[in-house]
Amino acid sequence: MAETILTQIENNILTITINRPDKMNALNATVISDLRSAMQQVYDNAEIKGVIITGSGTKAFVAGADISEFANYSTQQAKLMATNGHAVFNMIENCGKPVIAAVNGFALGGGCELAMSCHLRIASENAKFGQPEVNLGIIPGYGGTQRFIQYIGKGKALELMMTTDMISAAEAHPFGLVNHVVAQENLIAKCQEILNKIFTKGPVAITKVIECVNAHFEPQHGAFQYEIASFAQCFESSDFKEGTTAFVEKRKANFIGK
Ligand code: COA
Repeated sequence: MAETILTQIENNILTITINRPDKMNALNATVISDLRSAMQQVYDNAEIKGVIITGSGTKAFVAGADISEFANYSTQQAKLMATNGHAVFNMIENCGKPVIAAVNGFALGGGCELAMSCHLRIASENAKFGQPEVNLGIIPGYGGTQRFIQYIGKGKALELMMTTDMISAAEAHPFGLVNHVVAQENLIAKCQEILNKIFTKGPVAITKVIECVNAHFEPQHGAFQYEIASFAQCFESSDFKEGTTAFVEKRKANFIGK
């Protein structure tokens, strides 16, 4: 079986590529576990000074958690899934070395949440962002309900989470959700250029900047737990069964509100 993530260290930069292009790089349990191992390497290996996270191919960064994997999850399994996702994304957000998302296409659901857990987001012109979970009768479960507000504000976050509308890289840029928009062929080079600039600064100070900025959002940690519990509760509903079945059957969902 193909590896679900690819890693390469070059010039002190670890590039992590989510590698399920035929499934739009959807995050299944194996990807989450492999991502955790890769991030542990970042914490442990002094040769690594910065990280780029990207998706395989030219269409998708990550199109969300793997719907066919969690379609039959129980509430307990959903809680574990969200808890594991939060653990890895918190590891990324709290990493003392800069982590950049090279968003090379769709960043939806868990993909948007993964990008938002990184310190910076550089997007290619074709990138699209969104939190479409309510189409499936669930809510974002990897920190999206909180981090979306941090980046784009409450009003726009509520609109995009309730309508499931996607925004382009160009639309995301003025909100600060995206730091730079570049042509796809320049995406990785732009991320490397930014990391190389950061590498010329004091590493201790860079870590402190990350810690202090994250400290601003510490009060939201209780809300992360609330998100995990709410995400799991959605899995008790008929709407969740209908939403995920409709996706797998490639049809429109017919929700009953129960
Ligand atoms: N989980 C599992 N499989 C997924 C997936 C996901 N989140 N996103 C895409 N895929 C799969 C599709 O089922 C399809 O598989 P198949 O070829 O075996 O049928 C394959 O990836 C290609 O996707 P497809 O839908 O055919 O491509 P598209 O270009 O028409 O549409 C998207 C692309 C991203 C708009 C669409 O795939 C989509 O809406 N995905 C789900 C997004 C989502 O709801 N994410 C939140 C999950 S919590």
